[in-house]
Formats: sequence, C-alpha cells, structure tokens
Amino acid sequence: MSLRPVPLPRIEGHAFTGTHVPLIERYLDRLPFEPGDKLVSLQEGSTPLLRAPVLSQLVGASVRLKLEGANPTGSFKDRGMTCAVSAAVRDGAKAVICASTGNTAASTAAYAARAGITCAVIVPEGKIAQGKMAQTLVHGARVISLQGNFDQALTLVRELTDTHQIVLVNSVNNYRIEGQKTAAFEIHEALDGELEALCIPVGNAGNITSYWRGFKELGAAPRMLGFQAEGAAPIVEGRVIEHPETVASAIRIGNPVRWEDAMAAATESRGAIRVVSDAEILAAYRLLAAREGMFCEPASAASVAGLLKYGAEGAQQIACVLTGRGLKDPETAIANNEGMIIQCAAETAAIEEAVLGDP
Ligand code: F0G
Repeated sequence: MSLRPVPLPRIEGHAFTGTHVPLIERYLDRLPFEPGDKLVSLQEGSTPLLRAPVLSQLVGASVRLKLEGANPTGSFKDRGMTCAVSAAVRDGAKAVICASTGNTAASTAAYAARAGITCAVIVPEGKIAQGKMAQTLVHGARVISLQGNFDQALTLVRELTDTHQIVLVNSVNNYRIEGQKTAAFEIHEALDGELEALCIPVGNAGNITSYWRGFKELGAAPRMLGFQAEGAAPIVEGRVIEHPETVASAIRIGNPVRWEDAMAAATESRGAIRVVSDAEILAAYRLLAAREGMFCEPASAASVAGLLKYGAEGAQQIACVLTGRGLKDPETAIANNEGMIIQCAAETAAIEEAVLGDP
C-alpha cells in the first residue's frame, strides 16, 4: 500500500480536541488501512503538547512537552500497537509476541487483550520497571523472564517468529513505525509547522525513525536530536554494547534494530544523536516533576537532559518527547527520594515540627 502525498487533513472538530478519535481513524489517509477495516483501538494518540515555562526560560526558547504518557497504557507504544495489532488481526493472526524493556510488553498485552488474541512477551529478568510488569501480567500476557538482556530477547524472538505463526510486533514491524509517525503529524498541526527541533530518547531507535518519517511525509524538517544513555549508547559510540547499563531501563539497549534509520534521521535533518549520563537523566527527571509538574519515566527525561546539556542548535521552537509516564517506574522514583520522607509520631507537637519545622 502506498501513502498518498496529500496535504495533512485537518479533521473538523477533531484536530485539537480529538481525544475521542482513535488514531487510525484520525490519520486514515496516511496509514496503511482502508475505510471500514476493523480496528483494534483503545483511543490512543491525540496527546497534549504542553508548554514548559521553566524549561523555556532555562533554554531561552519555546519548549513544549509531547505527553506520550497520556496514551492508554501510559507510553507512545500504543500508537504503533493499534496499527500492528489491527493489521495482525486483519491478516488472521491468533498470537502476537515481542521482546521488551517493558512498555512494548504492556502495550502489546493490552491490545492483544482487546483483540481477544494470545500474547507472549520476553523481558530481561529483573530489568523492567514494576508498573510495566504489573500491566503486562494483569492484561493476561504470557510473561517470559529471560536470563539475558533486551538485545538477546529480540534476537530470540526474531528466530522464533521466523519458524512459527506468531506476529512479531517489535519496531522491526513496519506498522509500528507507521503508527508512531502520527505523533509528528500532531506536533506539526499544533505548531502550524513551526517546529525547529525535536528532542527524543533513543533505545531501539524505532521512535526517532517514526517521527522522521512523519515529518518527511509532511515536507517538514525539524532537527532530530536523539539522546542515548551513557552506558547504553551504541549509536553514539559506533559499536554494539554487549552489556548495556542505565537507570533508564526502557532504553537499556546495546544493538538497536533501527540503527541505520536513526542515523539517517539525524543526518538528513541536520540533527544529532548524543549521550546523556544517568545523573543528567535523573536531574532532568526531577526538574520536570518538581518544576513543570510533569512526572515522566527516567528514559523520557533523557530528551530534556539532552536539551539542557547541548541546547538545540539555535532552534526557537522545540518539542521534547516525554515517552512514558512516571508511574511506570515507582522503584526509581522512590529509590531516589526516600530520604525526603519525614517520619512522625502521632502527636500534635511532632506533627507541628514535621509540617512547619526546618526541612
Ligand atoms: N522511552 C520509553 C519510555 C521507552 O519505553 C522506549 C523504548 C524508548 C523511550 C525508546 O524508544 O526504542 O523506539 O528508540 N522501549 C522499548 C520497549 C524498547 O520494549 O518498551 P525506541
């Protein structure tokens, strides 16, 4: 199916308030589906683009946050998953599978549940955040905890789907990229095509690939500024990382499948892929929560950490993608703030001191 290069439709009454329009319906003209196709949707997409006054002041430019945690399962994965699962069901699939650092697993599990098909997920043992594990389990997926990392999980799952009738819904699946490119459409519409730079975390590199595809389809070319975590920065270092490590477990990936596409996105847009440390990620994570009121997961904060560290090449209109919700990863939130909790006896004097005394 080819995508027609038509001008972006502004769907009357939906373009800015379209929270009730499933993503595929909203952008049907630009997605590989036909009117009347049966869709598997949880009313994903149409997420807010929030002004970030504190960041704007720090950077000296207009900064907005694309709140992808507002999707039904709490991350951007739902954009791709409505497409991947709808297509799988349309094509007669009875089962879907993915390797995941957590969010893809939660999203696959939710859409498979909605579609009434079987779902299996392979996750690196001990390395996925609890909220994501909780979601995946309750949605009824078969959860396989691999004694290995994400890259090994993906290799194994690709082998498995070569020889079995199970649809792979990782971002090697083109429907994932197609669905996720719609976030670029939304930003483009909301800013009337004025966006100059997009800051985005990079893990398996599917999302930066998707945004760039979306912008290119519109004839737009904001700089794509991708950020990897220091211990898991294969693209920046130009080599596969055998044992990736970072506090941002979602992007703990040493051999991204969309490596070439991510390089192309950075090069063609005159952007870059750069590195941020765990300390920088956590500082941005705290700043977003404490100053902007926006609680995202650590991997998401890599976009803002990168903007604060490197600037945006003189861009005045900037968007940072907050890829997932903070509630996904309560362990990291609490582990980094436990000292902030004030113990208190159940007495008036004690409560007075706890509430009003010097912090
Ligand atoms: N942010 C979050 C919250 C993620 O979950 C991911 C990827 C990324 C950023 C990076 O996106 O891989 O397209 O470059 N999570 C995948 C998963 C790998 O399995 O949930 P990417």
